[in-house]
Amino acid sequence: MDAPLLDVAGVSRRFVLPAETIWAVREASLTAYPGEFIAVFGASGSGMSTLLNLIAGLDAPDEGRILVGPVEVGRLDEAGRARLRLATVGVVFQDHNLIEEFTALENVALPLEVLGTPRAEAARLAEVELRRVGLAGMGSRTADQFSGGQRQRIGIARALVGDRRILLADEPTGALDSKNSRALFELLRALCDQGALVVVCSHDLMTHEFADRVFEMVDGRLVAAGR
Ligand SMILES: Nc1ncnc2c1ncn2[C@@H]1O[C@H](COP(=O)(O)OP(=O)(O)OP(=O)(O)O)[C@@H](O)[C@H]1O
Ligand SMILES: [Mg+2]
Repeated sequence: MDAPLLDVAGVSRRFVLPAETIWAVREASLTAYPGEFIAVFGASGSGMSTLLNLIAGLDAPDEGRILVGPVEVGRLDEAGRARLRLATVGVVFQDHNLIEEFTALENVALPLEVLGTPRAEAARLAEVELRRVGLAGMGSRTADQFSGGQRQRIGIARALVGDRRILLADEPTGALDSKNSRALFELLRALCDQGALVVVCSHDLMTHEFADRVFEMVDGRLVAAGR
């Protein structure tokens, strides 16, 4: 088997509030490999988004460590974590955060341009990525001219462009109907089959049909729930 692409080991994150301390994530562990589709579900407030934010380096654990490939996320400074997201770990949210007045192509090319890729090369790679998510030839329309399902695909293309191998998705189908949700999960499954590692946190039970492994988040704890 390949080396793990993601290794979350005994990770905890607590939020200290004036009246109480909330352990949003408690001793979570997860080892995942290229090509895997991992689904996490749980009650609202169970800690799913906190866990994804930790893996993405948008937040730092109080205990434990997270390895992305050989890199320990917690040891990176802020610039290093930003670079990790630009180069290795893409994130998609329920509301795709596209720049409305940019074209689809410009949205997808943006992370590459931030990394310093020359504009023509960034545009070429963005076109490849748009094709991969089923939007070939539509790159010159502005983001506001796409449907919800298409916009989510643009968000996925932006999260993966430049050969990023980990996709973290937080409620990616939260704003989609069941037909578009199914199409999105089929796309994520196909990306896994091409070697990506996808971790989806979702209340949408349809996720389980497509996942290799399913975990339940219970009060901050990550519990294997079989397939
Ligand atoms: N920045 C913060 N400050 C204080 N508490 C927080 C913060 N972020 C999250 N929490 C708390 O941590 C717990 C987990 O929150 P989280 O957003 O991870 O839940 P979730 O599983 O994603 O829920 P949902 O399904 O509703 O999105 C909740 O009790 C939440 O109130
Ligand atoms: Mg959440």
